[in-house]
Amino acid sequence: MAFATRLHVRTLSSSSARQAAIKHITVIGGGLMGSGIAQVAASTGHSVVLVDQTEEILKKSIKGIEDSLKRVAKKKFADKPQDGTAYIQKIMENISTSTDAAAVVHSTDLVLEAIVENMELKHELFRRVDKFAPEHTIFASNTSSLPITEIANSTTRQDRFGGLHFFNPVPLMKLVEDTPGFLVNRLLVPYMMEAVRLYERGDGSKEDIDVAMKLGAGYPMGPFELLDYVGLDTSKFIIDGWHKADPDNPLFSPSPLLNKLVEEGKLGKKTGEGFYKHK
Ligand code: CAA
Ligand code: NAD
Repeated sequence: MAFATRLHVRTLSSSSARQAAIKHITVIGGGLMGSGIAQVAASTGHSVVLVDQTEEILKKSIKGIEDSLKRVAKKKFADKPQDGTAYIQKIMENISTSTDAAAVVHSTDLVLEAIVENMELKHELFRRVDKFAPEHTIFASNTSSLPITEIANSTTRQDRFGGLHFFNPVPLMKLVEDTPGFLVNRLLVPYMMEAVRLYERGDGSKEDIDVAMKLGAGYPMGPFELLDYVGLDTSKFIIDGWHKADPDNPLFSPSPLLNKLVEEGKLGKKTGEGFYKHK
């Protein structure tokens, strides 16, 4: 499980290797992923600052974390609801929020970035934060598809920069990838895009394709449900980036239908509508 124990990282100083416990984490981007990462980091005793662009977004992020913790506590403390309330309170005390990343990274051990999947915006953010974070601070990106080395090039700490790829929903998914190339998305994203192409060609309705994959392959969600869950904007950023890098690969072909939905602001569960309507 992500952050199952207190994180320990090895960094190389000029003369010797040293081991440092990560106590304070700054999570930048309080959307689907950043909220989940902040939740698991706080649940494992880390002190967390969650950063996003506005107080309004952060309010929504905190509400999402509380709702998720309520679901966890309901199960964990089924017989003792009052202990569940104390559990949630203790975790929430580990989380504070800010709209200014540069102002809060002065004493942080790990900066974990989970903003929108866009190289320029990630560069801009890391370049700025690099000036204010202490030397020992490790930087990591939760990118789904962008090369870590290229993101790290915007900083002066290429030797303290990594990919920490969490999965959605972070509190439940037990994998964090740090291998170059990120194996899961290389299989999962072309699979979801192929489902969209099946639907675009009229080979099956989205409902039938979803049911088929759930009943026939035992997947917990069908590809259209999963696209809505991941976010259609994020899915489009991933496939567009890969298509640009490898335009002849048919697995990475963009989809007119996905593009249209994103243009209409139908981004999936997070906006209330994507391939499906959500309550
Ligand atoms: N926080 C806490 N608990 C949660 C939760 C959350 N966010 N979401 C669901 N749960 C809990 C529910 O309370 C429920 O608990 P009980 O068993 O006690 O009732 C349990 O999890 C099951 O939830 P549901 O009954 O609502 O639904 P489900 O059985 O379908 O499970 C799911 C939900 C775990 C999300 C499951 O559908 C699933 O695994 N879906 C696939 C997710 C997936 O593939 N993720 C990867 C996306 S790709 C990615 O992340 C990489 C990228 O870069 C794009
Ligand atoms: P999201 O759209 O839910 O959230 C992104 C958040 O970043 C928004 O709240 C936005 O306001 C904020 N943001 C944008 N620019 C910012 C800035 N300069 N400073 C501070 N905050 C800023 O997106 P998400 O789904 O959480 O994805 C975040 C990252 O995680 C992306 O790189 C994505 O590829 C990756 N990822 C997504 C999933 C998924 O299933 N959605 C899974 C794994 C990895």
